[in-house]
Amino acid sequence: MLEQLTAQPPDALLALIKLYAADSRPAKIDLGVGVYRDSSGGTPVFQAIKAAEARLLAAQDSKSYLGPEGDMGFVRAIMPWMLGEFDPAGRIDGLQTPGGTGAVRLAADLLLKIGVRRIWMGAPSWPNHVQIFDAVGLACETFRHLDVATQRLDFNALETALDKAEAGDAVLLHGCCHNPTGADYSEAQWDQIAETVAAKRLFPLIDLAYHGLGHGFEADGYGLRAVLSAVPEALIAYSCDKNFGLYRERVGALYAMTAEPGQQAAIQSNLCALARASWSMPPDHGAASVRIILEDEGLTGLWLNELESMRARMRSVRDTLASYQAIGSVDLAAVGQQNGLFSVLQLRPEQISALRADWGVYMAGSGRMNIAGFTQDNIPHFIEGLRAVTA
Ligand SMILES: Cc1ncc(COP(=O)(O)O)c(C=O)c1O
Repeated sequence: MLEQLTAQPPDALLALIKLYAADSRPAKIDLGVGVYRDSSGGTPVFQAIKAAEARLLAAQDSKSYLGPEGDMGFVRAIMPWMLGEFDPAGRIDGLQTPGGTGAVRLAADLLLKIGVRRIWMGAPSWPNHVQIFDAVGLACETFRHLDVATQRLDFNALETALDKAEAGDAVLLHGCCHNPTGADYSEAQWDQIAETVAAKRLFPLIDLAYHGLGHGFEADGYGLRAVLSAVPEALIAYSCDKNFGLYRERVGALYAMTAEPGQQAAIQSNLCALARASWSMPPDHGAASVRIILEDEGLTGLWLNELESMRARMRSVRDTLASYQAIGSVDLAAVGQQNGLFSVLQLRPEQISALRADWGVYMAGSGRMNIAGFTQDNIPHFIEGLRAVTA
């Protein structure tokens, strides 16, 4: 029976990594892979994580199972950071998941279980969103998130889509640092979204995978707080893989807000049952390290400083790119207003290929670039290449 299966196309980004590694030109630039890079091109382990891991190693006396809910100390320690001044009044709880991916998957499973059949989302989005919703059988309805040519967020498209959505449909919203466009809603737009989602009785799923990497925890959480304040129920998929640099440790959590505090236990038991049927129990190490940091003032301070330097570096790269305003028809000015790891440029496939072949600039076929792949030193080379391929 296995012979019926044909080979799937290789993941384009993984293929790009191989091409980049095989390129011997010293001026090559990797804008493909979706992880933070420091100015020397590395993705180092946070000092705060190193310190927490040392404590974990010394204190851990068992590798026994954690249970499907994972490390609840971790799950609850994230909540004040995630929610800021929003008071959950006993209506929000969660469980640990293998990364933000696990959280989105579990959210999709739960949405299906409560009778949701359709989910609305802006496009482009993180490619795995559609794959996950497809896999569980939720129909995806997309609308244009950003007009890439003008780099303008298409708020009208969102309004029109939400207008068409029906009560009981879900809507996926990126909490901040939209992947791949970097284009986030303004506070006024979030207020409007929150109002519409509540008025139309849509079920919000908020994906917060880059919290703290845009303008800091408070500002990056505005949209989440606006929506939670307006609706009775919501799901939040949270990842610590970017803001603690823990990618391979797979650290995430899914939170559910219920209309009444008394409904929490039933929801939690359903989430545990769904998790049990997928991965049974999440891995411990990364989440335990995050908990140790958040329980200790000194380590929390160290982590925040490291995060701040990441954010400052990405901001300065964005500012430098934006200072070029426009290269040919490619608008760079907006990159300075966007947030997080990614932005998307309006480039044709042959221009993206020429950037790679002639200039050693590796970016995804969609025109997505990882802002952290730039340094102040390599930006002029990129601009020169962009000028040449758009001339
Ligand atoms: C929007 C979005 N959601 C979720 C995730 C998943 O994060 P994790 O690596 O923690 O599974 C990502 C990762 O790239 C993402 O960009």
